[in-house]
Amino acid sequence: KAGGRLVVVSNRVALPRQGAPGGLASALHAALDEHGGLWFGWSGKVAGETAAELHQQQEGKIDYATIDLSRTDHDDFYTGFANGALWPLLHYRPDVVDYRRSHLAGYLRVNEMFAEKLQQLIKPDDVIWVHDYHLIPLASMLRARGVHNRIGFFLHTPLPAAGLLIALPNHRELLETLASYDLVGVHTRRDLRALEDYFLHEAGAVMRLAGRMRMPNGRQFRAGAFPISIDTRGIADVAAKAASIREITQLQHSLEGRALIIGVDRLDYSKGLPQRFEGYARLLERHPELHQQVTFLQIAPPSRGAVLEYRAIRHELERSAGHINGKYATPDWAPIRYINKSFPHRLLAGYYRSARVGLVTPLRDGMNLVAKEYVACQDPADPGVLVLSRFAGAALELEDALLVNPADTEEVADALALALKMPLAERRRRWEAMMDVLRTNDITLWRRNFLGTLRA
Ligand code: UDP
Ligand code: G6P
Repeated sequence: KAGGRLVVVSNRVALPRQGAPGGLASALHAALDEHGGLWFGWSGKVAGETAAELHQQQEGKIDYATIDLSRTDHDDFYTGFANGALWPLLHYRPDVVDYRRSHLAGYLRVNEMFAEKLQQLIKPDDVIWVHDYHLIPLASMLRARGVHNRIGFFLHTPLPAAGLLIALPNHRELLETLASYDLVGVHTRRDLRALEDYFLHEAGAVMRLAGRMRMPNGRQFRAGAFPISIDTRGIADVAAKAASIREITQLQHSLEGRALIIGVDRLDYSKGLPQRFEGYARLLERHPELHQQVTFLQIAPPSRGAVLEYRAIRHELERSAGHINGKYATPDWAPIRYINKSFPHRLLAGYYRSARVGLVTPLRDGMNLVAKEYVACQDPADPGVLVLSRFAGAALELEDALLVNPADTEEVADALALALKMPLAERRRRWEAMMDVLRTNDITLWRRNFLGTLRA
């Protein structure tokens, strides 16, 4: 095929029959499923202390090549630097950043190891597409090894303003390596402005033609906004068929006619879950007529449990859910169903479709695929309402959601009340408008736009 094979590189890989909660794994699986290619990354396993051997397998059009991480590499690279320092910084939480030199050293060490393994896997005309904050310096390391392939990078998180990025010690050494890619993609124009601003004002780059920057050493690279999306038609089909699945009918039966509000998020402090619970509690406080009439189902699979902040939020939510149920529940009704377990897309699709309201209120989110999935899974004849944070990338596309500031629990409560009593005609109008966006900007368009620009 013209332009060579696609080689996708990411830390998290959605291995066959295992899946993985997270937007990156969902989106890359959908993108590769259709187009085919090699997917290289971490196996998800921690093993031994020695350099890892390659595990290879194949399913459908996807070839997988993964490596285990040693305990030390996992702790320094994944838990320490990627999720203890970069993730909070990128999500506007400098207060949570735990920066240590030993973690940065581990991050660079694992990136070097990825570069070494990858070099052995690639052919000269492969196009390499690297994903997310775990692997920022990978291209610079591949270049140092003499790799001349086209290499693109996509950041799945938000990119905060330069004034925040500079809070990271040695930020230039890390962020300037992005210039070794041929194309750097982010989700939104807001993220792109931040990237350009950083390179122009902190890294001494000059802007060439639109989206093209030149570094002081003469190297040029492109940057662009490529809002990620979902397999809209595929997931809508799955949802339409879900009505016959036992788990779905059981959920519907258990509601006894009550309206369902659903939230689905990794258990992450960026998702605004405490504020969301608080907003729901305000709804119950101000609307006694809704008692017994609504059920809020929050699915929150645990994530990155080795990082302190994640353990803290887990405890906080257990307390909050217990408090709200303790205060409002009756012997035959619990206002919150809170589940720390992950579910496959097949079931999530049916759960979304069973819900009158999708409640998606991250404090910051690169895109948020759950918001898009919720919309795509609705019954066209009787669609539910999406309540969405303004600070999710998805809010820039889904303008017909009820947009809220997730920190304003009164506003969240108001939006929930509005959503629960919204007439069918308005629900359909809003849903049609959002579906129009998602039918056009689906995962295929995202992949084609990015790779088309990278290959051009
Ligand atoms: N997800 C899943 N099972 C779960 C919870 C989430 O498969 O139990 C998926 C969800 O359907 C979505 C992704 O994980 O595709 C989450 O992506 P999103 O962009 O919303 O957030 P992220 O986790 O990437 O921050
Ligand atoms: C977000 C990140 C991904 C990550 C996912 C799940 O979507 O952008 O890079 O894979 O969360 O997190 P985990 O740490 O389990 O890979």
